[in-house]
Amino acid sequence: MSPAATISKPRRVERLVTGMATSDGAGVKLTRVLTQDLQRRLDPFLMLDAFGTENPEDYIAGFPDHPHRGFETVTYMIAGRMRHRDSAGHEGLLENGGVQWMTAGRGVVHSEIPQQEEGAMEGFQLWLNLPGRDKLCAPWYRDFAAAELPRYTTEAGVEVVVIAGESHGVAGAVVREATQPLYLDIHLPAGARFEQPLPAGHNAFLYTYRGAVRSGDTDVPAQRMAILANDADRDGVAIEATREAKCLLVAGRPLQESIAQYGPFVMNSEQEIRQAIFDYQAGHFG
Ligand code: CO
Repeated sequence: MSPAATISKPRRVERLVTGMATSDGAGVKLTRVLTQDLQRRLDPFLMLDAFGTENPEDYIAGFPDHPHRGFETVTYMIAGRMRHRDSAGHEGLLENGGVQWMTAGRGVVHSEIPQQEEGAMEGFQLWLNLPGRDKLCAPWYRDFAAAELPRYTTEAGVEVVVIAGESHGVAGAVVREATQPLYLDIHLPAGARFEQPLPAGHNAFLYTYRGAVRSGDTDVPAQRMAILANDADRDGVAIEATREAKCLLVAGRPLQESIAQYGPFVMNSEQEIRQAIFDYQAGHFG
């Protein structure tokens, strides 16, 4: 049990977004939920990919060696097993319910390869921007097994995994000062309600991945992202499960800096992007 968090005026849903089917890595099929055109609106978040399939052909080749610079990747594995290796010498196995948090900083080359030949593979990868002053920081990496992730259950029976930030008095696995990310996985029994205070200036969205929820007057069915409006007089988000549901709630403090992206490099300027490409080609990552 946890102390109840109450809000007086919940945010409205500004817009529902259907992801875009695409593939990445060596042909892994996925849905890009947060696409490049939403990076300003959902600053500091740069991307959200959802992958979920029972067909090994859709995931088996994984993500062979590729670079990142200038931001953080947060991979949340709902089902499946994936091995991670990177140029900074880190290695880990990400499986059922685990999270891998990687700060690419000045540069990492890594691979993410499935450790299964059959069965379901399901999860999410979220990209979180770094402020300009931290983009060239030393790479950082940590794996959290499901059992290591902070979680709580509300009186209404809502189970919440606190991946980042703080919720109902429970501190998350990761805290970041510049972007103050909140990342919750919320499991609601049918009819249950959940509230979470949010600073009005923080950008926030919901993503339903099972069942259906309702926020304010808007139904958010499975495989939809709901962008929450930033009206100054609203103090949080309220969710009701119209049937048994699972959803992600993600929020963060916008950096309000310019964004220059070239594939896996996200910097503040084109000049910095050219430098990233040069450094990678010259073998200066990791
Ligand atoms: Co990667």
